[in-house]
Amino acid sequence: MEGRYPDLRIRFRPGHVQVVQADVFFPNRRALITGATGLLGRAVYREFKDNNWRVLGCGYSRARPRFEYLNLLDTSAVKEFICEFKPHVIVHCAAERRPDIVENHPESATKLNVEASSNLAKVAAAAGAFLIYISSDYVFDGSNPPYRVDSVPNPLNLYGKTKLEGERVILQNSDNAAVLRVPVLYGDVEKLEESAVTIMFDKVQFSNKSANMDHWQQRFPTYVKDVASVCLQLTERKMQEPSLIKGIYQWSGNEQMTKYEMACAMADAFNLPSSHLRPITDEPVGATPRPWNPRLDCSKLEELGIGQRTPFRVAIRESLWPFLVEKKTRQTVFH
Ligand SMILES: NC(=O)c1ccc[n+]([C@@H]2O[C@H](COP(=O)([O-])OP(=O)(O)OC[C@H]3O[C@@H](n4cnc5c(N)ncnc54)[C@H](OP(=O)(O)O)[C@@H]3O)[C@@H](O)[C@H]2O)c1
Repeated sequence: MEGRYPDLRIRFRPGHVQVVQADVFFPNRRALITGATGLLGRAVYREFKDNNWRVLGCGYSRARPRFEYLNLLDTSAVKEFICEFKPHVIVHCAAERRPDIVENHPESATKLNVEASSNLAKVAAAAGAFLIYISSDYVFDGSNPPYRVDSVPNPLNLYGKTKLEGERVILQNSDNAAVLRVPVLYGDVEKLEESAVTIMFDKVQFSNKSANMDHWQQRFPTYVKDVASVCLQLTERKMQEPSLIKGIYQWSGNEQMTKYEMACAMADAFNLPSSHLRPITDEPVGATPRPWNPRLDCSKLEELGIGQRTPFRVAIRESLWPFLVEKKTRQTVFH
């Protein structure tokens, strides 16, 4: 094990503190994160690592050098990987999450979002690992919010359908699994296009050009660090009370915003002008259909005392600061 995952060995550096990550210090605390190279997976990996879990993150095209390469479509590789690492929890973040790509590549998206999830659930169940499957508010049609965990799903697009089917196969193949539905995510992005929220920032900061912004779809932008904390809290509670945690959960930020309102809030957070932003109140046409307001009711987690919410203004500033072009003039204001 230590040969295969060298970052988990005990290292000694003369005159320095030991860097220690070994089973003897983290008994029963091994976590496997799929999609650890992605937006949410990176935050979940960090959250578990910072809280005394021995964590293994796996990725696909971006796996090396930081993470382990694991193609989730390779069923025997998945089995071998889990049998070797023996995780106590698996947080399954890997998915094809871009609705337009799913529409255009239905077969490969279904393989990853549904078939790979089904296989992972079977292997996790056989290994006795608690599995958290990250799902989406797009399982709902958004016409009659808010949506409770037991509200009837009705996905409008193929992405939502594959996530719903993913939920079904997870719960069917493991009685030691939880589904966690979340809405649109943002956080520390490698590039602005990585999140449907941060992607708007260049239109916000380059104010010499007017920009149309959707003002019809109602969203609840949610910070990945908050979701990561919820995954950790859910896992810790599961370890304390195994029979309590199972089934479907939902977590979401509580600030309702359209994309136009998010863009204005970004401008405000950096003291930038917003008069070039134009709200478009008509329902978008022609694109992949998306729900109007898929607001998630989070009371099931709140009643367990589980949750974390960072205000949008604070979290978006933290996330976008590296991408702010005019850093020098804004620096004195915020840092
Ligand atoms: N982002 C959102 O706004 C949002 C909203 C609601 C729900 N969700 C859900 O939240 C979860 C995380 O989303 P995200 O935004 O973090 O996604 P993301 O940034 O697009 O990351 C997707 C991850 O899947 C991995 N992956 C792709 N193909 C794979 C394969 N064949 N084998 C193994 N791994 C593979 C990618 O690895 P490489 O990059 O290394 O190839 C990457 O780590 C998903 O389940 C998504 O449906 C996301």
